[in-house]
Amino acid sequence: MEMPHVERLSTGVDGVDKLLEGGIPRGFLTAVTGEPGCGKTIFSIHFIGKGIEEGDKCIYVTTEESKESILNQAAQFNIDFQTAIEEKALILIDALMGREDRWSLQTLDLEALIGKIIEAKKELGYGRSRIVIDSLSAFWLDKPAMARRYSYYVKKILSKWDFTVVATSQYAITTSDAFGFGIEHIADGVIRFRRAIRNGYLRRYIIIEKMRQTNHSTRVHEITIQHGKGIVVKDVAEESREDFTLPPKVVRRIVEAKRRSEEALP
Ligand SMILES: Nc1ncnc2c1ncn2[C@@H]1O[C@H](COP(=O)(O)OP(=O)(O)OP(=O)(O)O)[C@@H](O)[C@H]1O
Ligand SMILES: [Mg+2]
Repeated sequence: MEMPHVERLSTGVDGVDKLLEGGIPRGFLTAVTGEPGCGKTIFSIHFIGKGIEEGDKCIYVTTEESKESILNQAAQFNIDFQTAIEEKALILIDALMGREDRWSLQTLDLEALIGKIIEAKKELGYGRSRIVIDSLSAFWLDKPAMARRYSYYVKKILSKWDFTVVATSQYAITTSDAFGFGIEHIADGVIRFRRAIRNGYLRRYIIIEKMRQTNHSTRVHEITIQHGKGIVVKDVAEESREDFTLPPKVVRRIVEAKRRSEEALP
């Protein structure tokens, strides 16, 4: 049987595209999950930056950072959101500052968000579209049981409007649980960012946990975030003994204590 052709959208990060047979299938909703500071927002910026480059209609919804913060962060990676906004290729919806202007949301209300997104899409016009909702989990923070239903609602409506969706979802630092696990089931894809301290350094990783219709990588890769460049995918992360054993120093101390207690025996 002939393989059906799947149109894929480049994520804007070469190394991530390689893990995904070229990119994210058009029309998909992909959940980007992970702890604070591990690269979700920066990945989202790359995804929209690539959309601008490819002439897609782009929308970026920000709930945790102000519009200005997103503009500045993008500029640090040489992605020009300001010009894209002026040229009506991008609309940035600010759900944090509660301003009264046209592209601000006053409250984190999902129906208001969808209404605003559709208004923005009409403003941008027909054609292939990309949207980032950073974060979607903010909309169910005080009602995590709604995660699944909300994600389903967002996916259903936005797919009708020719959107390929990247929705970030946060993880609790303490338990590593997603705030509302529902989105992982509804999403067509799950890209998980992780971070860890290794030998005194902060390291970041990426793993494709799910991407429907895609023979994706199943390995953990290390990533770095570089000034002027953004996310760079490095090699497959070495299987680290630290993942499942005690640090060598601790092991040495235990062995030492055992030896001493044996010596003390009559
Ligand atoms: N210009 C830069 N050069 C190098 N590293 C940077 C630069 N800007 C940001 N970073 C790194 O990226 C991190 C922020 O990543 P990002 O905003 O994507 O995290 P996040 O996963 O969205 O976190 P949160 O859940 O808190 O929103 C910073 O903590 C810093 O380590
Ligand atoms: Mg973020």
